[in-house]
Amino acid sequence: KTETLLEILTGQPVIPVLKVERLADAVPLARALAKGGLPAIEITLRTADALDAIRLVADEVPEAIVGAGTILNGKDFNRAVSAGSKFIVSPGTTQELLDAASQSSIPLLPGAVTASEVMAMRDEGYRVLKFFPAEQAGGASYLKSLSSPIADMRFCPTGGISPKNANDYLSLPNVVCIGGSWVAPDDLIAAGDWNAIEALAAEAARLGAG
Ligand code: 3PG
Repeated sequence: KTETLLEILTGQPVIPVLKVERLADAVPLARALAKGGLPAIEITLRTADALDAIRLVADEVPEAIVGAGTILNGKDFNRAVSAGSKFIVSPGTTQELLDAASQSSIPLLPGAVTASEVMAMRDEGYRVLKFFPAEQAGGASYLKSLSSPIADMRFCPTGGISPKNANDYLSLPNVVCIGGSWVAPDDLIAAGDWNAIEALAAEAARLGAG
């Protein structure tokens, strides 16, 4: 499962973190992001229609790789998998979530911040984690400090990341990709401005390229 997850996360520098308020926005949003060069997306379970949005994208946007985010428990893990999620993201971990993940073929990207949290996930067999909330927890310099003592763990930092600080993270040896909501801001989704979102995605897709 680590291999599957790494394949998804290393395919692009940025994973868009999405909040889909209107179900009708899900398909054009996923298409615009894929067209801009960001096929893998994380639809967060922060809205009532999130699971239906995942289902629609999984069914209707073959070029997208849809994942589910903000998964807080085993029940939501299983629901998100049933809806067609290709990967699951959680801000932290619980035993219930780990149990659900261990019974599934779909990979989990669990959140961790401290050295102890990272070591605990390492003992569970995880090698790729979400580092959240990245900026607030200590930023790129904090994450860099983990790379030497816990050298075989890699991260997708999210939280407070934008094009301004993206390369601070993308240049670290223990970062596989970053995540963020800036690629698809609420106002552009509300306005249905798919061209603007595609342009933001294209800009994000070039990050880290030097
Ligand atoms: C997440 O769940 O990864 C974050 O909410 C994304 O953080 P951002 O909105 O600061 O990009």
